Amino acid sequence: MPAFLVKGGGASAPYLEGEITVGSSKNAALPALAASLLFSEMPEYSGLPDIEDIKRMHELISSIDNEGKVDLEIAKRFRASILVVGPLLARFGKSNFPHPGGCLIGARPIDVFINGWEAMGGKLSESGKTEGGNLIYTVDAPSGLKGCDYTFKVQSVTGTEGMIMSALLANGDTTLRNCAMEPEIEHLANFLNDNGAKIRGAGTTEITIEGKNGRMLSPKKPFRAPSDRIEAGTFLILGALAAKSLEIKNINKRELASLFAALTEAGIEIADTPNGVIVKKPKNINPVNIKTKEYPGFATDLQAPFSILATQASGQSLIHETIFEGRLSHAEDLNRMGAKVTLMDPHRALITGPTPLYGRELQSPDLRAGLAYVIAALIAEGESKIGNIYQIDRGYAKIDARLRAIGANIERI
Ligand code: EPU
Repeated sequence: MPAFLVKGGGASAPYLEGEITVGSSKNAALPALAASLLFSEMPEYSGLPDIEDIKRMHELISSIDNEGKVDLEIAKRFRASILVVGPLLARFGKSNFPHPGGCLIGARPIDVFINGWEAMGGKLSESGKTEGGNLIYTVDAPSGLKGCDYTFKVQSVTGTEGMIMSALLANGDTTLRNCAMEPEIEHLANFLNDNGAKIRGAGTTEITIEGKNGRMLSPKKPFRAPSDRIEAGTFLILGALAAKSLEIKNINKRELASLFAALTEAGIEIADTPNGVIVKKPKNINPVNIKTKEYPGFATDLQAPFSILATQASGQSLIHETIFEGRLSHAEDLNRMGAKVTLMDPHRALITGPTPLYGRELQSPDLRAGLAYVIAALIAEGESKIGNIYQIDRGYAKIDARLRAIGANIERI
């Protein structure tokens, strides 16, 4: 199994230097690709990230047959597969899909999708199990979905994207309330609006969608993948921990306001450049309490990398993960590396720094924590071996080569 071998710089002076360009957004590209099913012919995509999750989405879309059936074995493997269900239901009046399953970051229920399709007139039934035991659902809407007024029980990013796509071909207009406000939702709505949809309010909690009563979109303007805000934020944290001077290009600062606020409080200096920002490690890092929240709050996907920063801050930082119940699993591994992390309950970790970190053998729990481990290894003394790097490759393109280009000692073995 491939792994990353990382030789850290230890507590010595910061050593990374140069420039790194942020890649395209995974979580914007995935729903945009699923949205191709709402078009009469394939729209154009440019700048899609070269990552495993995008390959899985391409495989899933190619597996769809004339009746709109997807390959259940492919679908059950990744959570974002649920994004194709809404468009398929809108287009074929029926969809079969497996529960995408829980994962290490938490239970990942799909009730907001199911309630949404039922509000649009879909009838849900269970129709067996996959080989691995995931429930298979069928949603039927033989005379098409109907526009509705639907309030999300919780703000859900893919839930909001899924319901926008379901409502688009429906008979009648839809109002969605308590929507998630993540920028990826606006990127999806802009793409669909550029191609003839009428979606208003994306980026706010109330979104209205004009139902097109089965009339599919015809391609007018390509989807251009925006920069990945989570990758950009992770590079900022890496620079704050280990860079003499790191220029981060292709960064959208507006989408990272909460992280910038936390980094400023931590005493990290970030300067603008014509193409992005420059960040460097300060003499002292202040402790900072963070609480993950829906956008524009502090992104849960940046919590693991920020926890690494907290291990190097002078004092105690409280990391409060409010979105997922399993996303502090890095506590134990960080302690094995020499950090002082006290798990107060499944949602809160108290990190006391600064503590030197030491290289260890680690397994990536998920893609975000996986890259956080790479960062920890880069500032640790000695060598670390990080396994299960498929998780990291799911979301970050050629990350080892890009980190080597700024002076990191990382090898894929
Ligand atoms: N939730 C429910 N019921 C549902 C759906 C969600 O209770 O039917 C709850 C979840 O358990 C969670 C909260 O709602 O507590 C928010 O989850 P959300 O649905 O927003 O997450 P998601 O849409 O499945 C997306 C990203 C995640 C990111 C979260 C939160 C994609 C493909 N995935 O997931 O990204 O962490 O939003 O911002 O956009 C990643 O890229 O590594 C990743 C996990």
